[in-house]
Amino acid sequence: MKHRSTDEIRQLFLDFFKEKGHAILPSASLIPENDPTVLFTTAGMQPLVPYLLGQKHPMGTRLANAQKCLRTDDIDEVGDASHGTFFEMLGNWSLGDYFKEEAIGWSYEFLTKPEYCGIDPTKLFVTIFQGDDDAPRDEESANIWQSQFAVHGIRAEVGEVGKDEPAKGNAGPRIYAYPKKENWWGPAGQTGPCGPDTEMFYDTGKPHDQSFGPVCHPNCDCGRFVEIWNDVFMQYDKREDGKYVVLEQKNVDTGMGLERMAAVLQQVNSNYDTDTYKRLFEAFNTVFDIRYGADPAVDRSLRIIMDHLRAVTFIIGDERGVAPSNVGQGYIARRLLRRASREAKRLGIDTAIAPTVCQEVINIYSQAYPELTHNAGRVLAEVKKEEDKFALTLEKGLKEFEKMIGESTSLTGEQAFILYSTYGFPVELTEELVAERGGTIDRQAFDEEFAKHQELSRTASGGAFKGGLQDQSEETTKLHTATHLLHQALRDVLGQHVEQRGSNITADRLRFDFVHPEKMTDEQKRQVEQIVNSIIKKDLPVKMAEMSVAEAKEAGAIGIFDEKYGNKVKVYTVEDPDSEKGYFSREICGGPHVGSTGQLGGFKIKKEESVSAGVRRIKAIIGQ
Ligand code: ALA
Repeated sequence: MKHRSTDEIRQLFLDFFKEKGHAILPSASLIPENDPTVLFTTAGMQPLVPYLLGQKHPMGTRLANAQKCLRTDDIDEVGDASHGTFFEMLGNWSLGDYFKEEAIGWSYEFLTKPEYCGIDPTKLFVTIFQGDDDAPRDEESANIWQSQFAVHGIRAEVGEVGKDEPAKGNAGPRIYAYPKKENWWGPAGQTGPCGPDTEMFYDTGKPHDQSFGPVCHPNCDCGRFVEIWNDVFMQYDKREDGKYVVLEQKNVDTGMGLERMAAVLQQVNSNYDTDTYKRLFEAFNTVFDIRYGADPAVDRSLRIIMDHLRAVTFIIGDERGVAPSNVGQGYIARRLLRRASREAKRLGIDTAIAPTVCQEVINIYSQAYPELTHNAGRVLAEVKKEEDKFALTLEKGLKEFEKMIGESTSLTGEQAFILYSTYGFPVELTEELVAERGGTIDRQAFDEEFAKHQELSRTASGGAFKGGLQDQSEETTKLHTATHLLHQALRDVLGQHVEQRGSNITADRLRFDFVHPEKMTDEQKRQVEQIVNSIIKKDLPVKMAEMSVAEAKEAGAIGIFDEKYGNKVKVYTVEDPDSEKGYFSREICGGPHVGSTGQLGGFKIKKEESVSAGVRRIKAIIGQ
């Protein structure tokens, strides 16, 4: 295996695909231009969707690039050694040009050839799509992989997940098949180009951890296998009605996490131990005299600081750069910067840190992303302004805290929430201050207040905080539509005073909080279920239209009318020709939703309870 710097890997990748006839595109903006469903570009293919659907690309049919990406779905997990927000994705694309044979062949060549990555092929494992009603098992990819491995005298067998031990050496299971959840890829949101994928994994050789299952396999979470590259064979267009329509043009979309690859080639355990992060930690140590790698708690703070400020640098320094604010991408920038600043306080640093870190980010990346140099002045000025503002916030919040707590030692969750929501005072800080007095806050009460608030602002920005791709799973989408049906059914049964107070969806249930003064009777619950189920049974179309907030009100839409929406909002309508209004439900919402209500299968209320005075909560499930 070749030790390669991050810069080298990026360059080698682009050179490799240039040699294979690819036009090298500059990274598209981190702020998507024509896609209101996500705040940030989350994959290299995202800006290419129109071309994957058949439009001609001016640079031809073979493209490659290094793309700036940002995913916010794990934002609160950052701090451990594996999560992050900003990352670079290396990708190559075929727009109706080459297909599986070349894509897999080149992936194998790039990974194994000594001029490039020089990975020992016995350390490579791959996964393929196992097939279902929508698309057949990807035998073709399995066969191509087998002939690739055979070049090195390796017999790559197909193993059964959870049963067959991965190969050691030249023969044995090396190819594993999985369902859609693992080996199918499509863009954020529900519709668009998608298809089966084949993923490549590096075997770190770490012993398997039995607590993750008896037998290890590439997608096992024990940490032995690291995913390094994904080749997607985009042959389908998923339509609003949930159908997969075969595309005339067969495309290839690949994605390799650059930093992950750097960690593999530099033989370190974490992205935070690669050359890029080393430079950031060193620059920080030079100025603030705090070293990475000496104390786990300090390391955690340092990882948050570097990850977050790197993301902030790229958000503000983007060609379509956005400054910290209370909405959209600006809100994310603010949140990232404030959390970094907060961590610095935790490390006992009283001065501004962002200018130092952001300057080093610019130094590291300016060659690959020249816009950072052009926008350096703006980045440094904005982060300075924001950090100063936050320092002031902390000062004010501290005064308020003193007033609130007076002679006592504890605060209620609601009080902590007021400090947070009105003064921007972080709850962790409140907790620390209270702990210094030997008291506590009711964290659960705070979290409940917080969740309510979050849900509202989440809805308000159209679910766009979900920069992630997997989490908008089909189940979630269905539950989202079920929530609209429930909302309307509650208004029909209980009255027009029913208003949404919160909504939360996990993969297996919805939760809906609404205004209503008393416990619902069994009969009322039954009626609500009956209405929702009749709408599901009628398999009514769900249609989306974009309009101004005024137009949405005019059209009778319910939902949260928040100024944060900006100019246009999406309005989802469940059409119903039997209804006087012509529709059953019309609600302002970011989506996504299913194409027709029949997809929900059925609806059942599992629980109805009180949340607080005048607010009730329903938990419900869908399915047969
Ligand atoms: N678009 C694919 C991914 O993000 C390659 O994994």
